[in-house]
Amino acid sequence: MVQVDKPLDLLGGLTPNEFMKNYWQRKPLLVKGAFKDFQNPISPDELAGLSLEEEIESRIVIENGNTPWELLHGPFDMQTYHNLPETNWTLLVQAVDQVMPNVAELFKPFQFLPNWRFDDIMISYATEGGSVGPHFDYYDVFLIQSLGTRLWKIGPPADSHSPRLDHEHLRLLAEFKQSDEWLLEPGDMLYLPPQYAHYGIATSNCMTISVGLRAPSSEEILVHYTDFLSQFLPEEERYSDADQQAISSNSYFIDKQVIKRLRKILQMALADDQKLITWFGQYVTEPRYPERLIGEDISEVALKELIKNSAIIVKNPSAKLAWTEYANESILFASGYSRNFPKPYNELLKLICETDSLYEGNLANWLGDSIALTLLTELIKQGTLEFFNE
Ligand code: SIN
Ligand code: CO
Repeated sequence: MVQVDKPLDLLGGLTPNEFMKNYWQRKPLLVKGAFKDFQNPISPDELAGLSLEEEIESRIVIENGNTPWELLHGPFDMQTYHNLPETNWTLLVQAVDQVMPNVAELFKPFQFLPNWRFDDIMISYATEGGSVGPHFDYYDVFLIQSLGTRLWKIGPPADSHSPRLDHEHLRLLAEFKQSDEWLLEPGDMLYLPPQYAHYGIATSNCMTISVGLRAPSSEEILVHYTDFLSQFLPEEERYSDADQQAISSNSYFIDKQVIKRLRKILQMALADDQKLITWFGQYVTEPRYPERLIGEDISEVALKELIKNSAIIVKNPSAKLAWTEYANESILFASGYSRNFPKPYNELLKLICETDSLYEGNLANWLGDSIALTLLTELIKQGTLEFFNE
């Protein structure tokens, strides 16, 4: 349970309730000393090491390299690092939470937000003067300073009409109007709502951890949901106009009745909340790197035996889970799939989603239950859950 009315250092002494009411999605919040005695979870060398790996997404931004804001895409090699200038570059590594459990721990202080809203934890290392330029993002972010110092300049919200520098990948603002400026030291945190212009410049070699959120765009929602719905729409369901009157003139004219009939089709298709929640849960639990979910073939009998013999089951760090209730059923979403259960299974669904590990102790009530065992077996086969190997 999160105590939502307890002041937190993380939020500069605000309670989660106050933060949500006054800052969330509304305005930036600077918190000096958000993390007391902050331990940097990853060294610059370890971060650079990750950027050499094939399956890890990484970028380097060099200010005034071959272009004003040169962008290189990983994986990199040692030569890349030898060729970099002394200063004014930034390495950014995506989804570090999926490969370093101590980085994934950084989601925990933010449990007062819905889990599905979290995207990934990106970590950057910048040499002095390094910056990715003045830009805006479409997502909320908690920027935690983990090493050295960075000067954050903040400007008013920008949008798709704001003049931009001509850059294929970086959303760089052509005009940056500064309204605030804050120097962040290790353990400090800056919360930025979507679209706020920001420009962070390393004032010493520094590292910044971005706990990033996600919010599907209206375009994504419409395109993906209608694609999902299409599987339920038979050929015979189509435009019909038994009420059409004979027309005496203007046969090329599309009249208002057509709009009404079309709108009715759309409204009927969009009216089903159960389909909407099912699609949504599947959509937000789709793994970003599905190739990292490696299922294991196991029978229910073997699984039960293993658990009784002290096996520990954990979530694959690349898997996403969520659950909900609809009418008199509960639904578990796991890595893009969904399964419905009677409501008494809520406790199990909650346990699977929330706990760090499943073992005989917390599964005691479920080991004799065939529905529960089938679910656990399926999740292991699918790769959402896996055995913990020390
Ligand atoms: C950075 O860590 O350098 C950039 C983070 C951001 O601006 O979103
Ligand atoms: Co940004």
